[in-house]
Amino acid sequence: MTAAALIAAVAAFAPLASAMQPNAVPPLPAPMRPLQWGQINILHTTDTHGWHGGHLQESQYSADWGDYVSFADHMRRRADDDGVDLLLVDTGDRVEGNGLYDASTPKGEYTYDIFRQQDIDIICPGNHELYQADTADREHHITVPNFAGHYIASNLDYIEPETGKQVPMAKDRYRAFQTPNQKINIVAFGFIFNFTGNADNSYVQPVQQTVQEGWFQYAITKEPVDLFVVIGHVGARMGELRVIYEAIRAKNPDAPIALFAGHAHVRDAVQFDDNALALASGRYFETIGWMSVDGLETKEAKKAKEAKEVTEVKTAAAPTVSFSRRYIDTNLLGLYYHSGTNATTFPTEKGLNLTEFIAAGRSNLGLETVFGCAPQNYWLQRRSIEDPDSLFSLLKKTILPAAIVNKDRADKPRVIVMNTGSMRFDVYRGAFTRDSTYIVSPFISLINYIPDVPYKLARQVNYLLNNNGPILSSLAAEVAAKGMDDYTRGVDWREMGVPEQYAMKEEEENSAGAKGSIKGDSGASQKPLFSRRSAPGSDSDAETGRPPLVAGYTTRDDLGDDGDDAIHEPLPHFSLPNCIEADVGFPEEEPETVDLIFFDFIQRFVLMALAFAGGNDPGAKHYSESDIQTYLEGKFTDYLLDWIKTNWKDECQKQASSS
Ligand SMILES: *[C@@H]1O[C@H](CO)[C@@H](O)[C@H](O)[C@H]1NC(C)=O
Ligand SMILES: *[C@@H]1O[C@H](CO)[C@@H](O)[C@H](O)[C@H]1NC(C)=O
Ligand SMILES: *[C@@H]1O[C@H](CO)[C@@H](O)[C@H](O)[C@H]1NC(C)=O
Repeated sequence: MTAAALIAAVAAFAPLASAMQPNAVPPLPAPMRPLQWGQINILHTTDTHGWHGGHLQESQYSADWGDYVSFADHMRRRADDDGVDLLLVDTGDRVEGNGLYDASTPKGEYTYDIFRQQDIDIICPGNHELYQADTADREHHITVPNFAGHYIASNLDYIEPETGKQVPMAKDRYRAFQTPNQKINIVAFGFIFNFTGNADNSYVQPVQQTVQEGWFQYAITKEPVDLFVVIGHVGARMGELRVIYEAIRAKNPDAPIALFAGHAHVRDAVQFDDNALALASGRYFETIGWMSVDGLETKEAKKAKEAKEVTEVKTAAAPTVSFSRRYIDTNLLGLYYHSGTNATTFPTEKGLNLTEFIAAGRSNLGLETVFGCAPQNYWLQRRSIEDPDSLFSLLKKTILPAAIVNKDRADKPRVIVMNTGSMRFDVYRGAFTRDSTYIVSPFISLINYIPDVPYKLARQVNYLLNNNGPILSSLAAEVAAKGMDDYTRGVDWREMGVPEQYAMKEEEENSAGAKGSIKGDSGASQKPLFSRRSAPGSDSDAETGRPPLVAGYTTRDDLGDDGDDAIHEPLPHFSLPNCIEADVGFPEEEPETVDLIFFDFIQRFVLMALAFAGGNDPGAKHYSESDIQTYLEGKFTDYLLDWIKTNWKDECQKQASSS
């Protein structure tokens, strides 16, 4: 069937015959960099967090998972035609962060079926698959069988609720296979970082232990291998990935290693050595990562070489492998470009069908329901937290004081500490929908408090939580020394902030903490770090007649600054503190005591900070979990939404009449 006939056939049974979601904004053209193909070519998704319908408000990322299915089919066909191989990998955090996953009860009514439509060769879990027990159950009972034989759980076990038995999350700890076209031997692993915040129906084995296991040592020494493929839900610059790399390298001095990282939500490539490259492919289905590997010595090549060596003197060392990488913006124009298709020839029957299924799911979940209209854009990281256009500034100055009030204690001065990682996305001017609710505030954050905390202690909490590195390390040591190490076990301060913090090297992080100034929220750097994300660019290039560049990712990684497939105008990007603080209802004089209010997610950190703030004062109270009470019954998102419904309701009328 020709492509056109295929489209006609689909149109006959489906009203929706075009790619991407019906309400998504169309992509804008950009100058493009092509993909470089090699013997092995790998497409990588990570941290999609339920965004399988695409970014309906952002032109650069408006393609959906159905379009990715079509794209992969074209790329697979090209690989077959050229006699090379294409693999697809996904490194976890497929859940939480978008209404398509979060708005149903139970969650993921549509997303598990959507996701499985893509043929993925190697897939592993992320931490978000493990926070809630029911999510981990679904991972074990739905995702693992959906990707049977492809799901790898190198260091993750599941605890069966009926028997209490600890079993591997998936049957395979590793996967050894041959690629279909070239019969290249791959040995693949699927890791998760040393995560400790999981519900108690799973067990994460620290990677240092896993690499000592007999099966791992067998896999890296006994299996025939031309290329190791390590996928992991772990930042490309986090220590755990290096541990795995070093364990493989120790026994295989020259073997090529392709690593695929996630968790940190950034585009990045880390060159471990000439024969080992790690790729991190962003977040929220904004990016499809591409890595190609060339110069592999396959069995045939080796045989041919051996035959030759009988007659020829070996002159040079084996050529090193070459790697290339590209970060593909998830929009139709780019997908057409890389697959050599156009609007007519691009969509496949399966892809269109899936696009339609996603649209039906979004509609059934009421994701377009409007609760109010934002009067302007509020940015998560495009502005410093002190800027009036920052979402955190709006929260601190306006929303938290108004929305977080317990009527019975409204007369008490209160200190509200909120971790920045609880917010996940920008608020765009215009309709704030059910979908926006889950996109901006996806987590079940409960609002707890300790009543009547001496202000001289409470005032230090936010400052302590924001100063990574030296202060917090000594804090942990000090708390442990007091025999209160129940709070410090497995503490990773970065859990409070946004995942991008995991992109930093540890030295940078420590020096950022050491430099942090002493007041308020200023623990994080206030200068833009690197640019990312997208909005239409404003500067038109009238002189040259070129279309203006669209603002978006301008990535710099170990291989240079030519990784992004589309050439963008850079965007500012600010790092965030772990937490922000709102002081509410303070009298003229400094209060004696305050209600110290915080999200349940950070309570162990808050207890540690209080213990530290109490210092060596022998009279200081040792706060423990039994001091913590519920401040408000609902989840934070409910109160945020009430505030939006009340305060942004009239704005929709205003915007409708002015446009
Ligand atoms: C992983 O966890 C183990 C056990 O807690 C610890 O010893 C190790 O240092 C951790 N590794 C990294 C890279 O954080
Ligand atoms: C798409 O490509 C096909 C085949 O190359 C061509 O026949 C068709 O005219 C193109 N359609 C558009 C809209 O460019
Ligand atoms: C189309 O989607 C439905 C689910 O909506 C599925 O049952 C069916 O197999 C799909 N057909 C194709 C050709 O992918």
